[in-house]
Amino acid sequence: MKFIAKKPLCIIALMHEDLVPPDSTDGLTDKEIQPWKMEYDVCVTLEGMGHTVHKIGLRSDLVVIREALDTIKPDIVFNMLEEFDGQFLFDQNVVSYLELKKVPYTGCNPRGLTLAHDKALCKKILSYHRIPVPEFAVFQYGRKVKRPKRLKFPLLVKSLDAEGSIGISHASICNDDESLAERAQFIHRQSDGPAIAEQYIKGREIYSSVVGNERLQTFVPWELVIENLPEGAPNIATSKLKWDYEYQKKVGLKNQPANLSPELERKLSRLAKRIYRALYLSGYARLDFRMTEEGEFYLLEANPNPSLSYGEDFPEAVEHSGVPYDELLQLIINHGLHYHRNR
Ligand SMILES: Nc1ncnc2c1ncn2[C@@H]1O[C@H](COP(=O)(O)OP(=O)(O)O)[C@@H](O)[C@H]1O
Ligand SMILES: [Mg+2]
Repeated sequence: MKFIAKKPLCIIALMHEDLVPPDSTDGLTDKEIQPWKMEYDVCVTLEGMGHTVHKIGLRSDLVVIREALDTIKPDIVFNMLEEFDGQFLFDQNVVSYLELKKVPYTGCNPRGLTLAHDKALCKKILSYHRIPVPEFAVFQYGRKVKRPKRLKFPLLVKSLDAEGSIGISHASICNDDESLAERAQFIHRQSDGPAIAEQYIKGREIYSSVVGNERLQTFVPWELVIENLPEGAPNIATSKLKWDYEYQKKVGLKNQPANLSPELERKLSRLAKRIYRALYLSGYARLDFRMTEEGEFYLLEANPNPSLSYGEDFPEAVEHSGVPYDELLQLIINHGLHYHRNR
């Protein structure tokens, strides 16, 4: 059954200038649609629910937002930005600007974005709360890569703040100092920024979806399963696995309910809520974990504002828990409208 909003709202859908979707996908291939699929799915669904949606594309000029706010006077900004001026970390600055403009927005607040986007900083905070995270070390750009003795192989080397599995392949797993140095330098060159080497956590890859500000809701734990994983290959979300549809079919990628025991599910839900609060997240987030054979969950990263593309892990897990896509978008809007900065 189609969900109609009780109160139709005037919404600015804020997105990257290059990702402003067309009104229809007729005649386009999956590959052509992929880059702006989330923007398309969200806008079409919000309109279908009775809301008025103004798509605003942004690259590097805040004047675009200021003028849109002045002329459109929206009830809320639906934030789908993942970068500003080519910088991942600038999305928090744009959200700060929305706060200064006193306009409600969807998704995470600037402080939560700042803490979660730094894969080392968030782990330092979680260690304080005695939440299990992999051991790690950060290697700055241009510095010699020297492994602290406490950090034992195997290690997984990745960018400190990139998203979407950028720079992650099977070669990211290092078993000696030489390959560690090589891989860290590869990340330096590729991302123009620091690399983090983390203790490689063997186990199942499990995602937890959380929605809310003060009262939090968690959903069915979701698992990344690679059915035809070659003998000895690691079950990690490489960039090829994440973005190459053909490869996904070939290796039998399945994103599905994790079917954990009720005790493990409760443990994960409690843990996810603690992490969400410790990192000051708001709106909605997907937390990426590895679960060891002993049933211990290690947080790999927290993703505030995860992809809302229909069929992606976060909306799928939510839908599987009984909340359809359109109702999820409304829930996200309601949390945006009711978010209080000072609480
Ligand atoms: N410490 C780790 N142990 C095991 N696997 C890891 C570790 N860090 C990353 N991975 C693998 O790499 C993937 C991407 O890493 P992640 O930190 O989530 O970066 P991204 O922001 O690019 O998604 C994870 O989903 C997981 O499969
Ligand atoms: Mg991830």
